[in-house]
Amino acid sequence: MKYSELGFWLKKSAEWVDGYYKRLKKNPVRPALLPGEFRALLPNSPPQSGEPIADIVADFENIVPNAMTHWQHPRFFAYFPANAAPASILAESFVNAIGAQAMLWQTSPAATEMEQVMVDWLRQALGLREGFTGTIHDTATTATFCAVLTMREKALNFKGLTEGTCGTPRLRIYASAQTHSSVDKSVRLSGIGQDNLIKIELDQNLSMDATALRRQIQADLAQGYIPAGVVLCIGGTSIGASDNIAEIIAVAKEFNLYTHVDAAWAGSAMICPEFRQYWKGVDDADSIVFNAHKWLGAQFDCSVQFLSDPTPQINTLGLKPTYLETLDAEEVTNFNEWTVPLGRRFRALKLWFVMRAEGLDGLQNMIRNHVAWAQKLSHKFAQDSNYKVITNCPFGLFTFQYCPAGQDANEATKNLLNAINEDGRTYLTQTLVDGQFVIRVSVGPIACTEEDVMSVYKTCKELQN
Ligand SMILES: Cc1ncc(COP(=O)(O)O)c(C=O)c1O
Repeated sequence: MKYSELGFWLKKSAEWVDGYYKRLKKNPVRPALLPGEFRALLPNSPPQSGEPIADIVADFENIVPNAMTHWQHPRFFAYFPANAAPASILAESFVNAIGAQAMLWQTSPAATEMEQVMVDWLRQALGLREGFTGTIHDTATTATFCAVLTMREKALNFKGLTEGTCGTPRLRIYASAQTHSSVDKSVRLSGIGQDNLIKIELDQNLSMDATALRRQIQADLAQGYIPAGVVLCIGGTSIGASDNIAEIIAVAKEFNLYTHVDAAWAGSAMICPEFRQYWKGVDDADSIVFNAHKWLGAQFDCSVQFLSDPTPQINTLGLKPTYLETLDAEEVTNFNEWTVPLGRRFRALKLWFVMRAEGLDGLQNMIRNHVAWAQKLSHKFAQDSNYKVITNCPFGLFTFQYCPAGQDANEATKNLLNAINEDGRTYLTQTLVDGQFVIRVSVGPIACTEEDVMSVYKTCKELQN
């Protein structure tokens, strides 16, 4: 294919995109597909000679969309959303066309400087104090990994980078069991080790218990271990649990520990001032991550990390070989030094498009609607004696069980979930709460309406046995 043909095919792809979104609601959210079924449609080896692009596009249209789970479907209530606002899709098409690699300021000046401005727009939008700067990673996992590496290095006076961690006393990281597995992955990969991630017991509000945290840090110090940092969560993945940020950060500060707040999903809600009570004290955190690619609509991947002082993270992750130096302009920001990979995408453009196209009013309105509709749906289940609402959280996520008389509730709930997902009109997932198998409902698709949300109850009633 030649560059000269690109315009023609991009017009075709625009038509396809238009049709895709028009048809989307009629498709099952998740395809009825067995593992391996799609793979069997692909040849085992690459073609020796090039094929006409028309054939490739036709094959795409025939086999790929039907084998995809449709994350932009208005009835996708599984996991958390991964919203792609229309303005974001458009921005990404421009980014794709330019095909830049934004590792250094000089390899993409607009990408670097727009990233700085977008992080600051978001800082203001989320109501964070002045002074936070930040960067955009691919995922929250990367941001949390960077924060844990920074905790390690701060605790070791930056000697771990050169001397390694063998021979140092055990480093300790603290979190609650409600934090995401990305924290576990980060301690494993950082060489700190899973056994040194201490899951602090919860209080009755499902926050890390501050007294238990203090006791654990003191016990670790008494053993000769090195407490290195605390990872807090706002809107945990399973049921949306949150730590009491002010109280936990205060304990961390007593011991001069680095703090990282994982608000991957619920961080977006903070564009609405009424939700900021749930992360009161966050301005004292060293690092905060939230995924604009979850609820806000700047599509995957777009994970924003705010840093009260980027220096320790840059000192941990930054390397400047001669071939990456910016000659005669060393004061520029090179965002690869703030993260793990060298290569970087131009992620700020979609934030620029989305925030301008929707405005904060539009984004706040979407989030407020989602939260209100989730509450209404949860209430509907709570009023039905065959159902029990198990958890509610302030941000539009609740869990329920199907508990018909005379049946095991775990089994009945699992059967109902399977029936819902085979049916395809909506898509839900599960979690465990105190050993109970529950269905999660996470309301967040950009295109969903109140009717889409309430249809979950209707579908359950139709499919319950
Ligand atoms: C609270 C929380 N933290 C971290 C993650 C990991 O996100 P990512 O896929 O961006 O690494 C998730 C994913 O859903 C999450 O819910």
